[in-house]
Amino acid sequence: MKKILVIHGPNLNLLGQREPAIYGRTTLAEINSVLKKAARKRKASLCIKQSNLEGEIVGLIGKAKSKYHALLINPAAYTHTSVAIRDALAASGILTVEVHLSNIYSREEFRHKSLITPVVKGTIMGFGPKSYLLGLDVLLDLLDQP
Ligand code: DQA
Repeated sequence: MKKILVIHGPNLNLLGQREPAIYGRTTLAEINSVLKKAARKRKASLCIKQSNLEGEIVGLIGKAKSKYHALLINPAAYTHTSVAIRDALAASGILTVEVHLSNIYSREEFRHKSLITPVVKGTIMGFGPKSYLLGLDVLLDLLDQP
């Protein structure tokens, strides 16, 4: 069974109430339950974490390679600022897909740069909660490849 770690970064615990015009009304619990259902259908298991702390996310990434086959991450605001999370991903080498609910390029200029994208397999953004589902799907497809 393929094991995937899902990391939700800062403020994603507030989904549903947080800037609904941008992030929608779906809560994190709802996203997680849809993801779990999708994983079950594909006979994969998920471990889902949310953290508002950069160092905690660095720690989770550091341990991920030994426990999981792949990582799905929405680094949230740390996307644009965190050299530490980028370095942790580069050091780990775990197969990773980055996701965002919103299209970061259609928003403020400070969001136009992701420090994370250069060190992941690929990035999916702009499709709301569906970004996560697409990310999970592509990770499982990649893991299924011989
Ligand atoms: C986000 C985009 C980031 O710019 C923002 O800081 C977030 C959420 C997204 O999923 O659209 O917190 O990662």
